[in-house]
Amino acid sequence: MKKTILTGLRPTGNLHLGHYFGACKNWLNLQDDYNFYLEIADVQALTDNFNNPEKVRENVYEITKDLLALGIDPNKVNIFIQSQIKEIAELTIFYSNLVTVSRLQRNPTVKTEIAQKKELFGNNGESITYGFLGYPVSQAADITCFEGELVPVGEDQLPLLEQCREIVRKFNSIYGNTLIEPEQLLSNSPRVKGLDGNDKMGKSLGNAIYIIDDEETIKNKIMSAVTDPNKIKKDDKANPEICMVYYYHKLVNNEDNINKVCSECKKGERGCVQCKKELIEAMNNFLKPIQERRKQFEDNKVVEEILDKGTKNAQLKAKETISKVKEAMKINY
Ligand code: TRP
Repeated sequence: MKKTILTGLRPTGNLHLGHYFGACKNWLNLQDDYNFYLEIADVQALTDNFNNPEKVRENVYEITKDLLALGIDPNKVNIFIQSQIKEIAELTIFYSNLVTVSRLQRNPTVKTEIAQKKELFGNNGESITYGFLGYPVSQAADITCFEGELVPVGEDQLPLLEQCREIVRKFNSIYGNTLIEPEQLLSNSPRVKGLDGNDKMGKSLGNAIYIIDDEETIKNKIMSAVTDPNKIKKDDKANPEICMVYYYHKLVNNEDNINKVCSECKKGERGCVQCKKELIEAMNNFLKPIQERRKQFEDNKVVEEILDKGTKNAQLKAKETISKVKEAMKINY
């Protein structure tokens, strides 16, 4: 029997190259061999966007279109909307008895995020909401609701998975063996760096290339990408390893061109402007088929049907799990 994979994405913005190379590309390789649930985590997105429901709603569709454009096949993957699975909310309440507030406060992912969201949660996290602090509990509900055995995640999500496993163990030790303990499937592709050289490409960092970026946007972004600061003149020798233009050549160009860029740059036979122009072309060639495919899903109706189907399948599985859980907890009236 196929193993079950569960993963999720918060609908807070379009997908960028960091999402693709860091996660989605890996999912494409998994979709044939696993029973795959892909959650559009709108409830989780609302924990730090509760004051912006339109943004979350719009991005449910945007992210789904991006995923389909990248090649996620809705006939193989159940793409579903978290808020439409009420069992996840029920499980979250049940699990909240099994985790201490101080354990949540110590969760490294939560801590980092609170520190990043000072406007919302205060300079020292003094305005943290119950909902945000508790989102790891809700994520444990996401995973266990579908009996997810494997969870493909990046490094930053590991503390959330560890917290999920702790909840599972506690649940099973009190109520009897009911829930499945998930394992991580760490993506071996490293984090994608930003145009500014930052270790992480991210929406909030303003250093991302989105898969829906048009040619003009790509041109402007790549023209402003960080290169070797010691290279002043066109024929100066430079170090491609500290140049973001070379870094993206390696992601989207072919091997011959990559080698050419590298050796010419080292020998001082390549100006940065020319190199950027070539990257713009390679980037557009890379994005073109993705953007072409996205056009098939422009109509929200098509996307709604796909989400409806995925959500119905997810609901079936969620019903099974909740009945086991309620029986174990002796609340199966
Ligand atoms: N927390 C994840 C993120 O921010 C999204 C997510 C929600 C998720 N539920 C999940 C990831 C379950 C893995 C498993 O990207």
